[in-house]
Amino acid sequence: MQIIRFKNYEQLSDYTADFIVDALKNKPDLVLCMASGSTPALTCDLLVQKLKKDKVDYSTLTFIGLDEWVGLPPTNTGSCHCFFCTKIFEPLQLKPSQYHLFNAQADDLKSECEKMDGFIAEKGGIDIMIVGIGMNGHIGFNEPGTSFATLSHVAELDEVTKSVGQKYFSGPVQLGKGITIGFGHLMNTKKVFLMANGIKKAEVIKKTIEGPVTENFPASIMQRLENGFVLIDEEAASLLSKPH
Ligand code: PGA
Repeated sequence: MQIIRFKNYEQLSDYTADFIVDALKNKPDLVLCMASGSTPALTCDLLVQKLKKDKVDYSTLTFIGLDEWVGLPPTNTGSCHCFFCTKIFEPLQLKPSQYHLFNAQADDLKSECEKMDGFIAEKGGIDIMIVGIGMNGHIGFNEPGTSFATLSHVAELDEVTKSVGQKYFSGPVQLGKGITIGFGHLMNTKKVFLMANGIKKAEVIKKTIEGPVTENFPASIMQRLENGFVLIDEEAASLLSKPH
């Protein structure tokens, strides 16, 4: 694991977007998996701007959505689906064949998981994963206690996830389960970037970097990843006890 520190959220997001653009220039059939949420929002915007400005050919890019709230229609503005449509698919006019997201309204969610696992295998694995970290240390919907070996799965959401998750919705919503890519995939990804910014993430970043590696604190898996990068701004880094 490497730790890269930035002055602020803007610089962190700019670095991540540049990294993706360069990776795509070097590998036009890049397989990119991203989380939605507040943290990667600016990276998405900058990515779209930079791809257009540099006239990068993204016609063979494959995009994978990390997770989704079970039961939500893609039209719900708090859904991960809606986030990616608005921020990536529509601005870049990606062809539907270029992206794969969980259908969280499917009757058979197990088969949705198998489809995702199959899609990842068919593409030859994920090149870059961009994830955030939850207030309970989750990544995607890999909640505390989830095995590091899991592939795509349906998760019972932790109370913290259910309450913090309300921020994405215009009104109170009943959240129970999530469908997510698991750590089995994360461990096989060529480069994983965990981004965190702001003082509210300082405690979970300290545990991620300096705490024990344990399935009870999912993001601690980053310590096991040779190709894992923790990208943090000054505020998120503020509780670290050693210089990293
Ligand atoms: P956030 O979400 O980027 O909106 O803080 C992080 C997460 O819960 O994974």
